[in-house]
Amino acid sequence: MYNLLKGKKGIIFGALDEKSIAWKVAERAHEEGATFVLTNAPVALRLGTITQLAEKTGAEVIPADATSIMDLEHLVDQAMEILGGKIDFVLHSIGMSVNVRRGNHYTHQDYNFTKTGWDVSALSFHRVMSVLYQKNAMNEWGSIIALTYMAAQRVFPDYNDMADNKAYLESVARSFGYFFGRDHKVRVNTISQSPTPTTAGSGVKGFDGFLSFADKMSPLGNATAAECADYTITLFSDLTKKVTLQNLFHDGGFSNMGISTAIMDDFMKVNKPVEENEDKKAKK
Ligand SMILES: NC(=O)c1ccc[n+]([C@@H]2O[C@H](COP(=O)([O-])OP(=O)(O)OC[C@H]3O[C@@H](n4cnc5c(N)ncnc54)[C@H](O)[C@@H]3O)[C@@H](O)[C@H]2O)c1
Repeated sequence: MYNLLKGKKGIIFGALDEKSIAWKVAERAHEEGATFVLTNAPVALRLGTITQLAEKTGAEVIPADATSIMDLEHLVDQAMEILGGKIDFVLHSIGMSVNVRRGNHYTHQDYNFTKTGWDVSALSFHRVMSVLYQKNAMNEWGSIIALTYMAAQRVFPDYNDMADNKAYLESVARSFGYFFGRDHKVRVNTISQSPTPTTAGSGVKGFDGFLSFADKMSPLGNATAAECADYTITLFSDLTKKVTLQNLFHDGGFSNMGISTAIMDDFMKVNKPVEENEDKKAKK
């Protein structure tokens, strides 16, 4: 290991179980010498296995629902007390759509569910940064990261209203990142990660197909949760001090692809070239 986060203090949101991206980030941050607190919604603390991670990394767990300002204020106060000072890095690794969970099609949303999903997945990032900013809780040259997905830019029909939530989240990163950079020299970025088999990821309809399609499309293949953690560590480290307001693709190259030979070969196994189809039509 490289001691990239030696002496740094952090808050990590969203480790539910060992598949969670936040779980892998916590393990890597620990290996790189950081101290941090772990947090998740009270219900997730009951259902998940976060205490195992806390024991392994020497972290304390502080419950906080990311939709509650009161919880977040308590979290940030407690984190500074436990860690003995201001915070150097924050990971927002939170996502949930009630419409996806209930199987509502994008065209037939329940707007109360839409509001809840947006509140949890997107507005929560503003809320977290607002509490950190108002409490002047971040050290200079600190780093704040949220996780996102490319459905914010391109159409992935089954990603449903999470696509809109991610677009909002990425915009908040830029808008708040300006003030955090100008006033506190803190950088704010989003990492746009490959589809990853976690609890949140697997909730997306047709996830297995989605996963293997992305893998075949990407020249380097899908990025795993562990690889996402490695990348996140570099963005928390002092080696990336002037990277801010960015949406950074960590997806094996998927986002810049049009078609790959592997996908084309699969497609041609079940489809005829267009001219052949046209010929057939003409003969009819
Ligand atoms: N898995 C993927 O395919 C994928 C791809 C790109 C981006 N992401 C993003 O990565 C992030 C982490 O997801 P993951 O894939 O590790 O899945 P995950 O299910 O392990 O993590 C999602 C976390 O959000 C937490 N959460 C939900 N409601 C909350 C609330 N009200 N307050 C606080 N926390 C709450 C959950 O408890 C859970 O720990 C999410 O933002 C997700 O959208 C995931």
